[in-house]
Amino acid sequence: MNRSLVIFGFLLLCGLGQAGEVPKTLHLTWEGDPCTTMTAQWLRGPGLGDRPEKGKGEEVRWKKAGDPMWQVARSTSTEFPDPQKMGMPRWSLSRVRWKGLEAGQEYVFQVEDSPEQSFRTAPLDIGEELIFAEGGDSDSTRAAEEMLTLACQKNPLFFSLGGDISYSDGKDVAREIRFWEMWHRVAHGTDGKLIPFVPGIGNHEVQGGYWQEGATSADMKKRAPFFFALFGGLYQKDGPVALDFGDYLSLLLLDTGHITPMERQTDWLEKNLAARKSVPWVFVSWHIACYPSARTWNQQPMSGYARSQWIPLIEKSDATAIFNHHDHDMQRVESEGKGGRKVMVLGNGSIGVEPREAVCKESIPMRKAYAQENYVNIVTLRKKSVEVVTLGRKGRELDRVEFSTRSK
Ligand SMILES: [Fe+2]
Repeated sequence: MNRSLVIFGFLLLCGLGQAGEVPKTLHLTWEGDPCTTMTAQWLRGPGLGDRPEKGKGEEVRWKKAGDPMWQVARSTSTEFPDPQKMGMPRWSLSRVRWKGLEAGQEYVFQVEDSPEQSFRTAPLDIGEELIFAEGGDSDSTRAAEEMLTLACQKNPLFFSLGGDISYSDGKDVAREIRFWEMWHRVAHGTDGKLIPFVPGIGNHEVQGGYWQEGATSADMKKRAPFFFALFGGLYQKDGPVALDFGDYLSLLLLDTGHITPMERQTDWLEKNLAARKSVPWVFVSWHIACYPSARTWNQQPMSGYARSQWIPLIEKSDATAIFNHHDHDMQRVESEGKGGRKVMVLGNGSIGVEPREAVCKESIPMRKAYAQENYVNIVTLRKKSVEVVTLGRKGRELDRVEFSTRSK
């Protein structure tokens, strides 16, 4: 009798052990309107759970929180690029896309029989206040895990990462996966909700880092295979992307010559800034710092192009501020004002990389704030003002700046 009980208990435990685990790289992102859509995606393959049978996908139950009935969707599954194992991808990417969701609502979902996960769609209006978090140049270091945890524990609506995400250089699939395992571990608010990831492109997403003379867009996308496998839904068109949250916030995400030459984005920038004149909060983000800190102003031509062509357009517009990255420290500068007013440039990307020493003689006199540290920006939007608090290791406040709405 006792023996049967032991066997029964053992079988029960085995059963519980098999009750699915949450996919280790599960993360959320947006490919469309953040108020009404959401995309969840995760990798399967060695170390990440069995790949679904070809054409079958995985069952995902989901519902709006509080609804009595579950709905059932099936994930799609595609091969995940494996550039160092040409022809034999070891991992697959599973994805579920939700459309027609309600704004500002909580949803729960469950992949197969794994524990329930939840998320919130963007609200239609700003309400009392709304937080998002921002940074660049991450990798999967201890510093990155600490800084991204710190940011997500502020319960941001999303995290915007302005390039140099995993440092896989579009080649190292193991390193790419390591980042998404880390992001999955950290991307929860204090109530457990998953925090969506808003991707920007940097040189370390791309084999060779930069657009090559004569290359087509298709050629270049092949050189950034992980970025486009994961985020090709958002970056469907060639060039930059605008992400609009209701009528209160827009992010303009540009590419400093990694896939698309910068010259081909300037008209887009001008038009898209003009089209958002009535939007109170507009942030423009790109990877290569236009006011470098670890390099001189003209060490990379992208810095000079952004200073001469993009900054004046933004100065002429009512955009709130700019996010820059790539130079691996915390530097806030005000632009030169050639377009009629000065705009704040919050840089220069240092979530998890080793912070560099600032040596740029041109930028140093322009600095409003500086720290040779890892940092994340916590941006709190209110109806009439925005506060950006820059946090360093262990949550130490490195900088704080406030912006007001310009008269529209
Ligand atoms: Fe970079």
